[in-house]
Amino acid sequence: MSSLLSLFLLSFLLSSVFGQPPSPTFKPSDNFLLDCGATTPTPSLDGRQFLTDSQSTSYLSAKDKVTASTPSTTDVPSPLYLTARIFTEDATYTFPLTSPGWHWIRLHFFPVNDSSHDLTQAVFSVKTDDYVLLHSFNFDDSSQWLLKEYLINATSDRLSIHFDPLRNSIAFINAIEVISAPDILISDYASSLSPVGPTSGLSNYAYQTSYRLNVGGPLITSANDTLSRTWSSDHGYLQSRSTGQKVSVSSGIINFPDGTSPFIAPNFVYSTAVHMADARIGSPNFNVSWVLNVDPSFGYLVRLHFADIISKNLDNLYFNVYINHKMAISGLDLSTLTSKLASAYYKDFVLNSTVAMDRLLIQIGPLNDGAGTNDALLNGVEVLKMSNSVGSLDGEFGVDGSKASEDGGNTKSHAVAAVGFVMMFGAFAGLGAMVVKWHKRPQDWQRRNSFSSWLLPIHAGHSTFMTSKGGSTFGSHKSGYTFSSSLGLGRYFSLAELQDATNNFDEKAVVGVGGFGNVYVGELDDGTKVAVKRGNPQSEQGINEFQTEIQMLSKLRHRHLVSLIGYCDENSEMILVYEYMANGPFRDHLYGKDDLMPLTWKQRLEICIGAARGLHYLHTGTAQGIIHRDVKTTNILLDDDFIAKVSDFGLSKDAPGMNQTHVSTAVKGSFGYLDPEYFRCQRLTDKSDVYSFGVVLLETLCARPALNPALTREQVNLAEWAMKNKRQNTLEQIVDPLLEGTINSDSMSKFVEAAEKCLAEFGVDRPSMGDVLWNLEYALQLQEANPPTPPLSHALKPNTNKSDAGVVAGEIKQENGAAAPSEDQHSNAAMANDVFPHLGEMKGR
Ligand SMILES: *[C@@H]1O[C@H](CO)[C@@H](O)[C@H](O)[C@H]1NC(C)=O
Ligand SMILES: *[C@@H]1O[C@H](CO)[C@@H](O)[C@H](O)[C@H]1NC(C)=O
Ligand SMILES: *[C@@H]1O[C@H](CO)[C@@H](O)[C@H](O)[C@H]1NC(C)=O
Ligand SMILES: *[C@@H]1O[C@H](CO)[C@@H](O)[C@H](O)[C@H]1NC(C)=O
Ligand SMILES: *[C@@H]1O[C@H](CO)[C@@H](O)[C@H](O)[C@H]1NC(C)=O
Ligand SMILES: *[C@@H]1O[C@H](CO)[C@@H](O)[C@H](O)[C@H]1NC(C)=O
Ligand SMILES: *[C@@H]1O[C@H](CO)[C@@H](O)[C@H](O)[C@H]1NC(C)=O
Repeated sequence: MSSLLSLFLLSFLLSSVFGQPPSPTFKPSDNFLLDCGATTPTPSLDGRQFLTDSQSTSYLSAKDKVTASTPSTTDVPSPLYLTARIFTEDATYTFPLTSPGWHWIRLHFFPVNDSSHDLTQAVFSVKTDDYVLLHSFNFDDSSQWLLKEYLINATSDRLSIHFDPLRNSIAFINAIEVISAPDILISDYASSLSPVGPTSGLSNYAYQTSYRLNVGGPLITSANDTLSRTWSSDHGYLQSRSTGQKVSVSSGIINFPDGTSPFIAPNFVYSTAVHMADARIGSPNFNVSWVLNVDPSFGYLVRLHFADIISKNLDNLYFNVYINHKMAISGLDLSTLTSKLASAYYKDFVLNSTVAMDRLLIQIGPLNDGAGTNDALLNGVEVLKMSNSVGSLDGEFGVDGSKASEDGGNTKSHAVAAVGFVMMFGAFAGLGAMVVKWHKRPQDWQRRNSFSSWLLPIHAGHSTFMTSKGGSTFGSHKSGYTFSSSLGLGRYFSLAELQDATNNFDEKAVVGVGGFGNVYVGELDDGTKVAVKRGNPQSEQGINEFQTEIQMLSKLRHRHLVSLIGYCDENSEMILVYEYMANGPFRDHLYGKDDLMPLTWKQRLEICIGAARGLHYLHTGTAQGIIHRDVKTTNILLDDDFIAKVSDFGLSKDAPGMNQTHVSTAVKGSFGYLDPEYFRCQRLTDKSDVYSFGVVLLETLCARPALNPALTREQVNLAEWAMKNKRQNTLEQIVDPLLEGTINSDSMSKFVEAAEKCLAEFGVDRPSMGDVLWNLEYALQLQEANPPTPPLSHALKPNTNKSDAGVVAGEIKQENGAAAPSEDQHSNAAMANDVFPHLGEMKGR
């Protein structure tokens, strides 16, 4: 133990030598730093020494002893992320505390590669004896690392952290910090908003850091903070950047009057700020605003930091501070409060969930009462999520399984859920009227296909992301464009910003048109290319539903799903901002576009595998499972490395308009890809996606549309035509001629076998996406093991002779707000009648 002690002392020495702040160093009485799975001691980048696995065995009680590590070349911010401890059963770390009171718990996660466990698939919960920290946490993007930070008032002399893997899953952890925090960090008192007034009892909550921003300044890493905290830049959260201007002074001049301390926030935070641009003009009349996304089912402690670093004299600066449009501080007078310039001041506000809504708008603006300068500033912001009534920081269940009371925090989100369900039910009821009978809806349908199933994951406590690689809240230099909020709502964009990005929604920037509206390619301030999907203003999709949708979409994070970057709902706009997929739809590379290099068989396999992974994640990666409902080659997009990502999930839930009951708007999907069973029974399951994916596989092989009405009756429908050829052993004849001689025959049989299984008449006979994935990977292995050398005459050359036959698989989806079916839709309907005779039942009512 004494050697441990000296290690700790050493680490303090190190940090006081290398750490910049000359300010007092806090000496935590408890300081447990574990580098889980590590075999050799590695100091973290801030100089603190973490214990290896063998040095920390006394803290851990676990049945199994599995560790994993990844090469040191992996792109993570600290060597702590390179090793992990894996648990296949419940495991507990217990730390003896020198005294109860406030403690930081920092959990570091990165799913390192492991030959026997896939950490990206791990689903687990993390709890202390009193609080739920993470509930059914799932790490769905393997390229991310995460730091989750909690502040907990320990009430006994032991603190336990339990890792509970979901049944048949695993849990893992890369590093743990349990460190005493100074008492002054959380005082028992704060102001409440609405009504404004004092509130107390803050020491009875546990907290999770959602945001910690060094306003107007750069990232402050743990090495430069008095308590090893990380402060990110506010850049990505500042709205209409031209209204705010950065200002900074030397960090040495910051004073800490009584009642404050560098432990509250280091001088680096107070020495930078954002103040009003153009404050010198007569009476500036605007606010500077920051928007942070929060989870509406929790309350938040918001701490605002101020130091007057812009005034030349005292008594010259008075300004207003608003939170969510409510006056938080009227006429803030820093001179009187601190009696010195450049003095630290902070104020805490408690926002209970009724005030918090789903975003936090912090505004500063001039008092404009004629006294002093008309200016305003903000130096730092901290947003801490507060534990709910059952002691949970994630999801609505407590450690003992009790459920948060309905009227506590969740009222708002439940209301939204109800509205969403009614709207969706309406849509399907419309469909029901068109069909002979509205069959008793099977459980499966209810569970998986109602709008509410989209919402459920929100309450099932799918986890909150503190940060990610390239993320903004913690520890990364790139700020702004990734999911950063505690809810994962993505970034908020102002309309002006998106107008800039798309050259004011220039027609020339349109790269696609969908049921939802136009899709524009745009470029953000920092050069990031994005796809901007702007809702049709006439769309019937309400703004509430839109916001709900963003929440749902934001939950879905996967390497093979197109990521939602953010959104804008200013002026009732409904705009979604996605990552830009440079190589466009998979379909374009198969046929229809003349000038693209044809894809090799291997590339095609890899794309199918990627798409299958994305769908597999949709079906299984979330608590409820999600059905895509519109799987087709135009919804599989390729990035600049030809990585396939599934797009358009859950967007096209068009409700039928007044006169649209006879148009099959509510039937989601595209002809040529539609699961026949879905028509017969109105029973949509994940196996309907599997059917559509089978069609995608055939398109990949044959390079022709799912439906091509220009062909003979027998050949119109690709699925039927290909399966007929398969039965007659003539499939080779309809394979894309550009692939001729390049496909290993075993690979092809495996591939066709997978496609055939997908297209089984009955859903129950179709494989799961997981099985399909396995078959495709096998097909790729077979191809790799023995790739045929193509005859020279067949060397791949640009495809210049493919006919597109004019019609893509006819979309059933109709544009929202379109008054009547167009010619095109009539012909689609006629065509559909040919192809799906059973569809006839749906018409003419
Ligand atoms: C921790 O909580 C207890 C009540 O549960 C309280 O008495 C104590 O003062 C708190 N500790 C601190 C440091 O606030
Ligand atoms: C994980 O392993 C795969 C193949 O085994 C490799 O391609 C990938 O780069 C590895 N990832 C990391 C983060 O080491
Ligand atoms: C939340 O705010 C409302 C309105 O001010 C208040 O009535 C309610 O008691 C608050 N709830 C909590 C848990 O503080
Ligand atoms: C700490 O702050 C100093 C001064 O701002 C800066 O030069 C240095 O790079 C910072 N170090 C880290 C690790 O952030
Ligand atoms: C600043 O914001 C507050 C609260 O949202 C609002 O009441 C006020 O009118 C705004 N001031 C200006 C000048 O826009
Ligand atoms: C609906 O149809 C009726 C007659 O068919 C027409 O008078 C009315 O304008 C239509 N309404 C809309 C919203 O298109
Ligand atoms: C290419 O297209 C031309 C007409 O556009 C057609 O006559 C010719 O047969 C096509 N060649 C092949 C190989 O399909």
